[in-house]
Amino acid sequence: MLIKEMQDDILRLKKEKDVFILAHSYQAREIIEIADFTGDSYQLSVMAQKAPQKTVMMCGVRFMAETVKILSEDKQVMLANPYAGCPMAEQISVEKVEDFTKNNPGYTVVAYINTTAALKTICDVCVTSSTAVKIVKKIVNDKILFLPDSNLGAYIQSRVPEKEIQLLKGCCPVHAAVGVRDVEAARKQHPNALLLVHPECVPSVVEKADFVGSTSAIMDYAKNSDNKDFIIGTENSIAEHLQYQYPDKNFYPLFKKLICPNMKLTTLVDVWRVLNGQGGEEIRLPHDTIVKARRCIEEMIRLGG
Ligand code: 13P
Ligand code: SF4
Repeated sequence: MLIKEMQDDILRLKKEKDVFILAHSYQAREIIEIADFTGDSYQLSVMAQKAPQKTVMMCGVRFMAETVKILSEDKQVMLANPYAGCPMAEQISVEKVEDFTKNNPGYTVVAYINTTAALKTICDVCVTSSTAVKIVKKIVNDKILFLPDSNLGAYIQSRVPEKEIQLLKGCCPVHAAVGVRDVEAARKQHPNALLLVHPECVPSVVEKADFVGSTSAIMDYAKNSDNKDFIIGTENSIAEHLQYQYPDKNFYPLFKKLICPNMKLTTLVDVWRVLNGQGGEEIRLPHDTIVKARRCIEEMIRLGG
C-alpha cells in the first residue's frame, strides 16, 4: 500500500469511526497531514477538551495522552504507539515531592506537563514551555517548587527573578545533549541565521539564543520573522517542517543528533492499526487519579490562556 493510499484510508476510517486525531509538532509529516490538530503541549491540552468526538487518538508521547484522558474522562483515549514515553516524565517520584513539601512548607508546587498522572495528583499547577513564565508570574505565592526540568526551571528563574524558585532536578536527555560548542559551530557556519531554541536546552545554550520558545512558538517566530536563515534548537523535525512550509527561507538544525527517539516511534501504520481496532493502547486511569490530577491541568489552562 502506498503512503497516500494509507492516508486516504485513515481519513475515511477516522470519519466513519468518529475519531479525533491529535499530533504533537514533533510527529512526522505524513502523520501531521492526517491529524485533525497539530500543536505544542499546551495547544494539545486545550484542543483535547474542545473536541466533540467520543474517541481521541494521540500521536505523541504517553503524558500527552494521559492529559487528554484527565481532561475528558468520558472519552476513549488511544495512544497510537504504547511504547512512546517521555523519559523526563518518569524522573521525579511522588515520594520525592512529598518529602520536599513536608520539610519545606509554604511552596506552590509547579509541575511541567511532562510528568506522570500520579505526580500531577500532588501538584498545584502544571505549566508547558509556552506558558511557564506567564503562569509562574501569575501565581500569588513567591515561593515556588518547580519540577522536573531543571533547564526550563533555570529559564523561569531568569525571567521571574523576583520569586524564590527551588528545583527538583531532571532534564530532557535529547535537548540537554546540546552544548555551547554546537552553538558556536552553527553560528560560524550560518553567520546570518537567528538562533531559535527550546527552553529544555541547557542555560548556557539558551543564553545565546535570539529567541526562546515552545515548539509552536519557534515555528510562529520563524514564519513571522523577516530574516531568511534560522538555526533551530529543538527536535530536528521542527527544522524539517519549517523547511517544507517555507521553502524560501533556510532552516538549519543546531545539532544533528537532536532527535527524540520516543516521538519518532509512532508511524502511519500505528495510526491505521488503531483505526482498525488492532493496536495502540487505550489509556485507563483510576477515577480518583483523574479527579485529583485534573485540578492542576485546569489551573494551567485558566492561568495560561
Ligand atoms: P512543547 O510544549 O514545546 O511542544 O514541548 C513538548 C516537549 O516535549 C518538548 O520536548
Ligand atoms: Fe520528552 Fe525530550 Fe522527547 Fe520532549 S524531546 S518528549 S521532553 S524526551
